Amino acid sequence: MPPDAGTGRTSADTETILILDFGSQYAQLIARRVREAGAFSLLMAPDTPLEELAAHTPKGIILSGGPASIHEDGSPRCDPRLFELGIPVLGICYGMQLGCHLLGCPVDAAEAREYGRSRLTVTDHSDLLASIPSTTNVWMSHGDQVSDLATDFDCLASTDTCPHAAVRHRTMPFYGLQFHPEVTHTPHGVDVLRNFLYEICKCRGTWRMADFLESECDRVRGQIGDGRVICGLSGGVDSSVVAALLAKAVGEQLTCIFVDNGLLRKNERELVETTFRDHFDIDLRVVDASAEFLADLDGIDDPQEKRRRIGHRFIEVFRTAAAEVAGEGGGDFKFLAQGTLYPDVIESGHGYAGQAANIKLHHNVGGLPDDLEFELVEPLRDLFKDEVRALGEVLGLPPHIVWRHPFPGPGLAVRCLGAVERDKLDLLRECDEILLEEIVSHNLYRSTDQVFTVLLPVQSVGVMGDGRTYESVVAVRAVETSDFMTADWARIPYDVLAIVSNRIINEVPGVNRVVYDISSKPPATIEWE
Ligand code: XMP
Repeated sequence: MPPDAGTGRTSADTETILILDFGSQYAQLIARRVREAGAFSLLMAPDTPLEELAAHTPKGIILSGGPASIHEDGSPRCDPRLFELGIPVLGICYGMQLGCHLLGCPVDAAEAREYGRSRLTVTDHSDLLASIPSTTNVWMSHGDQVSDLATDFDCLASTDTCPHAAVRHRTMPFYGLQFHPEVTHTPHGVDVLRNFLYEICKCRGTWRMADFLESECDRVRGQIGDGRVICGLSGGVDSSVVAALLAKAVGEQLTCIFVDNGLLRKNERELVETTFRDHFDIDLRVVDASAEFLADLDGIDDPQEKRRRIGHRFIEVFRTAAAEVAGEGGGDFKFLAQGTLYPDVIESGHGYAGQAANIKLHHNVGGLPDDLEFELVEPLRDLFKDEVRALGEVLGLPPHIVWRHPFPGPGLAVRCLGAVERDKLDLLRECDEILLEEIVSHNLYRSTDQVFTVLLPVQSVGVMGDGRTYESVVAVRAVETSDFMTADWARIPYDVLAIVSNRIINEVPGVNRVVYDISSKPPATIEWE
C-alpha cells in the first residue's frame, strides 16, 4: 500500500508529482528535490494501479531508478496503462529503460557497466534540457541501456558510452534520462528536474508549508470530527510539532501526555510545561513516573535490558494515563496522534514496495504497541525531518524546540554507563547542561547534530589543590550527521573543548577528568550504549 493511500492527502489544488519507486537508493532524494523545487511529491509503489495514481490528480509522474534489469523475471513494473493518463512521465535510469521498453525500444546490457561521472553532450535544448550547457557532467550508474531508439523517439543528449542518455517520445508525454539528475554529482541535475516540473508539467511551484499546514488541519479536523485526541509529548521536535498542529486544528479536543521518566535532561519537563501549557494553552498532563522507572532500572547494567524495561514501563504508564484521561467527561477518546515521519513510513515497510536495501535497524523505544485501540492521527506522515522543522516554524514553535537535537527514548539511562543511579543521573544532567550552554553560546548548536555527555563507569586519579582525587570520568560526544545512520565526530574547536572541560571539572563535584570521543559511526555508534 502506498504511504498515503486512503488519506486523501493531496487536494486538487496541490501540485503533486508522484514518484514510482523501483527500488532506487535515490528515490527519497528525488522526492526531496521535487519539494525543494516547489511541488509536492509522494513516493508510490511501482505497480500502483492507474486509478489510484489518477486519484492524486498528479501534474507529473517520475519513474525512479532501481537495481533490477527489465529482463529479469519479476523485475518491478508500472501499470502498463500509465501513458493513457496523458500526464508527463519522466523515467530515470531503470525508469527510462522501462518506459522506453513499454514504448517499443530495445534495452540491452551495455558493453561495460557505467558507474560514476560521465561527460554529457546535449544536442537538443528545447524543453527538458533547456539552458543546460552543451557539455556537462552527469552521474551514471547502470548496466542496461536503451540500445536503439524507435522512430518515435528523439535523442536529446549522449555520452561516449551511452548514445541515448536523454530522450523524448514524439507523441507521448514521456521523457527518459539514463543519468541521475537528483544527485549532487550531476551539477545541472536540479535544473533538469525544474525543467520537467515547469516546462513540461506546467507546475507553478505553489507548494508552501503554510498551505500544507492549512490543508493538513482541514484533513485532521475531518478525521477527528468532534472526537477527542491524545498525544504523547516527548519534548522532541516531531511530537512537539504534532501537538502544536493539533492544538491549531482541534484545540480543546486535544490532551497531551508527557511522561517524566526521571531520565530527562535538566529543565526538560519545565521547558515542555512552559511551552505547551502556557504558550499553546494545551491540556497537558505531566505524569511523574520517575520512581517507577528508576526502580525498574535498579542494578541493571545491560544496555538492551535497560531499553526493554524502560520501553515496557513507558507503555504501562502511558496506557494508564490515557485510560484516566479517557475516563473523564465521557468524551469520545478514540484518536492517538503520533509524529511518524515520511522516512519512518517508508523504512518500516508500511510504505511502498521499495526494494532499496534497508540497513537501518529500528531500536526506538518509547513507541506504543498496536493494541492501544486508538485510531492513529499522523499529520507528519508525508514530511521529511527538515520539513517538520519548517512546519514547526510556521506554527510558531520557539527555535529551541524546532531546532532541537534528537534525544533517545531511554534518555540518560544509556548515557550513564553501567547501573543507573539517581545521583549519577544528577551529575550527568549538570555536565550535559554545561556542554549545551557552551555549544550554544559558541554558535555550534546548528552546525552539530547531536551533542551530549556520557558518564563512564570508571574512576580515575587526579590532583586538586594539594590532594589526590579519585573521581568520575565524563566523555563528551558531538557528531555531525545527516541521517544518524552514519556520523562523523564534530571538529569542535580546542578552545571550546577546553572551556567545557574546565567548567565540568570545576563546577560538577565528583568529576576530575573529561575526554572527547573521536570515533565515527560506523564502527562506533552515536550513543555509548
Ligand atoms: P546510535 O547510537 O545507534 O544512535 O548510533 C542513532 C540515533 O538513535 C538514537 N538512539 C535512540 N533513540 N531509542 C531512541 O528513541 C533508543 O533506544 C535509541 N538508541 C539510540 C541516538 O540518540 C541517535 O540519535
